[in-house]
Amino acid sequence: MRINRVLLDRHTIADRVAGIAAEIAEDIARDVGDAHVESEDPKDVTLVPLMTGSVIFLADLIRHLPLMMRIRLLTVSSYPGKATSNRGVTIESALPDDLSNQHILILDDILDSGRTITAVREQLLARHPASIKVCVLLRKKIDSAMAVHADYVGFDIEDEFVVGYGLDYDGYYRNLPDVVTLTQSAMA
Ligand code: IMP
Ligand code: MG
Repeated sequence: MRINRVLLDRHTIADRVAGIAAEIAEDIARDVGDAHVESEDPKDVTLVPLMTGSVIFLADLIRHLPLMMRIRLLTVSSYPGKATSNRGVTIESALPDDLSNQHILILDDILDSGRTITAVREQLLARHPASIKVCVLLRKKIDSAMAVHADYVGFDIEDEFVVGYGLDYDGYYRNLPDVVTLTQSAMA
C-alpha cells in the first residue's frame, strides 16, 4: 500500500481553486483595471509558476482567469530525490528579463520552510516589478511557513509530508488527483 490517507479530495480542491481565482481576479481588477482578454489594452500582469510542483494548480487556476496575462515558468528545486525537507533553493531556469513594471503573481504548490518563496521573491525583486504577490495552494501550520507573507492560500494543513495534485515524493505521485499522505513503506 502506498496511499495512507486522502487529505484533500479533488472536489474540495476544485472548489477552493475556483474561490482563489475569484479573489485574484477581483484584486487584479482593483490593482490594474479591467484585464479581461477583450479589454482595450493588454495589462502588465505576469504569472510566475514554480515548476514542477505547481503544474496542476497552474492549469486549473488559469482556466478560471480569462485575463490578459503572461506566464513565465521558473524551475526551482529544493527537495532533491527522496528528501522531505528543504536542502537549499536552486533556481534552475534563467529569470525572465521582461518583468520590469509587471504585476507579478508567484504560484507554488506548498509553503513549508518558506525558503523557496523567499528566495524567488528576492530574485524577482531585482527585476524591478511593479508588485509581487504570492499564491500557494497549501501552507503548513508551522512557524516558518506562517512567517512568510502569502496573499492567497488554498488550505492550511498539518505539518506532514503530502503528495498529489502536483506534489511529489522522489518525482512520483504528482499525477494523483487528490492530495494524500503516503504510508511509511512508500517513503522507505
Ligand atoms: P519550502 O521552500 O520549504 O517552503 O518548500 C517549498 C517546496 O518544497 C515546494 O515547492 C514543494 O516542492 C516542496 N515541498 C514542501 N513540502 C512538501 C510536501 O509536504 N510534499 C511535497 N513537496 C513538498
Ligand atoms: Mg516542488
